[in-house]
Amino acid sequence: MQPVNLSIIYYSATGTVHALAQAAAEGAEKAGARVRLRRVAEQAPREAIDANPAWARHLQDTAGVAVAGHDDLVWADAVLFGTPTRFGNPASQLRAFVETTGALWYQGGLAGKVYSAFTASNTAHGGQESTLLALANTFYHWGGIIVPPGYTDPVQFQAGNPYGASHTAGDGPPGEVALAAARHQARRVAGTAALLKAGRAA
Ligand SMILES: Cc1cc2nc3c(=O)[nH]c(=O)nc-3n(C[C@H](O)[C@H](O)[C@H](O)COP(=O)(O)O)c2cc1C
Repeated sequence: MQPVNLSIIYYSATGTVHALAQAAAEGAEKAGARVRLRRVAEQAPREAIDANPAWARHLQDTAGVAVAGHDDLVWADAVLFGTPTRFGNPASQLRAFVETTGALWYQGGLAGKVYSAFTASNTAHGGQESTLLALANTFYHWGGIIVPPGYTDPVQFQAGNPYGASHTAGDGPPGEVALAAARHQARRVAGTAALLKAGRAA
């Protein structure tokens, strides 16, 4: 049985979502998946980035992370998307990537894969759920199999978001609970994709 191919495609300006993405990668790898960790291309003007030292630093620090392309979707049995909340919605940088996939979608190349998403916002009620649900609209259009974490692990009763791992960045960098929730979500996504892959191969 071939291992599950799992792509983690994320955007992060100042590193919070990147930290969740790395935790998700650990969780998926531990579950036996082959993992591609990919950032989407930055779209913001250089002046905007340079006006925020944390943003400029993170962009520089992650220059070595490969940029997401369509092959990362085609290759994947499962895709985990990560995005900060932007006024209650996914970041435009991630949307820009998603909105390049029209031809792939039309050919059916995005259907039947497992999808899930994680996020960060500055405040606890700042739009984590609306961001994840907005991204899920796209998964429906793609004919995806949406796998949320729900309350399927004890950590979820501490992390508290059944829609996807989430962190409140205003409290500081993600701590062990948020990172464990991201690992759990990735394990669950990889495990579900493995069952589907085995069923399809049978
Ligand atoms: C344009 C913009 C809009 C934002 N909108 C929200 C928001 O609606 N709610 C919120 O709590 N935080 C909001 N934030 C804060 C970001 O969500 C927060 O900085 C982000 O989750 C940090 O993730 P990162 O370190 O991966 O970039 C916004 C930030 C920016 C720049």
